[in-house]
Amino acid sequence: MANKIEIKDLTLVFGKKKEIALEMLDQGKTIQEIREETGIAIGVNNINLDIEEGELFVIVGLSGSGKSSLIRCLNMLNKPTKGKVLIDGENICEYDKKQLIEIRRKKISMVFQHFGLLNHRSVLKNVEYGLEVQGIKEAERKEKALKSIELVGLSGWENYFPRQLSGGMKQRVGLARALTNDAEILLMDEPFSALDPLIRKDMQADLLGMTDYIDKTIIFITHDMNEAFRLGDRAALMKDGKIVQVGKPAEFFENPANEYVERFIEDVDKSRILRVKTVMRKNMYLAKVSDNRETVIKNIESNDRGYCYVNDENNKLLGFVELEKLKDSEDDNISKLVDKNYEEINRNAFLSEIWTKLDESAYDVAVTDKSNRIRGIISYADAVAALS
Ligand SMILES: Nc1ncnc2c1ncn2[C@@H]1O[C@H](COP(=O)(O)OP(=O)(O)O)[C@@H](O)[C@H]1O
Ligand SMILES: [Mg+2]
Repeated sequence: MANKIEIKDLTLVFGKKKEIALEMLDQGKTIQEIREETGIAIGVNNINLDIEEGELFVIVGLSGSGKSSLIRCLNMLNKPTKGKVLIDGENICEYDKKQLIEIRRKKISMVFQHFGLLNHRSVLKNVEYGLEVQGIKEAERKEKALKSIELVGLSGWENYFPRQLSGGMKQRVGLARALTNDAEILLMDEPFSALDPLIRKDMQADLLGMTDYIDKTIIFITHDMNEAFRLGDRAALMKDGKIVQVGKPAEFFENPANEYVERFIEDVDKSRILRVKTVMRKNMYLAKVSDNRETVIKNIESNDRGYCYVNDENNKLLGFVELEKLKDSEDDNISKLVDKNYEEINRNAFLSEIWTKLDESAYDVAVTDKSNRIRGIISYADAVAALS
């Protein structure tokens, strides 16, 4: 996967005396020392980070660790003091005002903790707002807004006003609004932190479900390690404006970077937060139903397998073909040989939910999303390895 966002040597100093702070950082002073000696606040201290296209990437850390400072550099609400933010390879720190307005309208949307809804506007009008500002015609606006309202599960509430909604519903409106302008990148700064625990769990599940239908790169911030690991394909743990560790959830347990990380993950129950998507294998050979039989045989053999999964013309999972069957056949084409009785596991299932299924399958089970795309494969051994 290509990198959607690349953060390079990024430092953010608040206030006027930026040069002094940068010099002191160069001298090896900590941000606490600098704050004590000069009163200067530093939000981000020399961060390097790549975020892949289509990834749900979580930034986690205690309050004051610099999460908001960092995410606000990704749409230039905070102007970095030093370093670069590349989006699709372009350094947006060099953008002028016009380019920034453009990128905020079209490419990057933000969802805030306290919803940021316009109280005198209905749900529909709130969700349409971004398109209205862009001067898009009413019919088109409405059509797009209704689609995202449906996606966040608020159909039927279009004409209600924010004051008539619960916190969870307000945040769904915030989410729908961010989805409406088709931005490729979604920035979410503690969007669920103000919600009750049960509603929060629903929202987490719904966000994950949504990512099966939308192909966005999502940066999600939380101060809750459980939430971070439940949601993230990968997570970065921040402390004092720096990243302490970055990786897949399971990697934090396998290989905690230091004592601070160990303490952070101490109370987390692995089997209940690790999802299939973060443990599955993504590298696999996939055939297309229109592929030539001989080619498929060669590819299965060179991958040292006895079968492979097969996609249809729209990249939806159709089934699998077995090597033996392919060899016995005389067709040029594989379409008649596809077995549609395959086992599948949803990529957002927790490991704790899938043991029976894995145990019963002698082969790699297909990991799919709700729109029936195959995202990876997983075996019993993979799951055991992740939890051991
Ligand atoms: N606008 C600001 N001016 C001065 N200091 C700030 C500003 N915003 C944040 N800070 C400081 O930067 C540090 C990181 O804050 P923040 O990024 O908000 O942390 P988090 O989002 O992880 O809670 C804190 O010490 C905070 O006081
Ligand atoms: Mg914050």
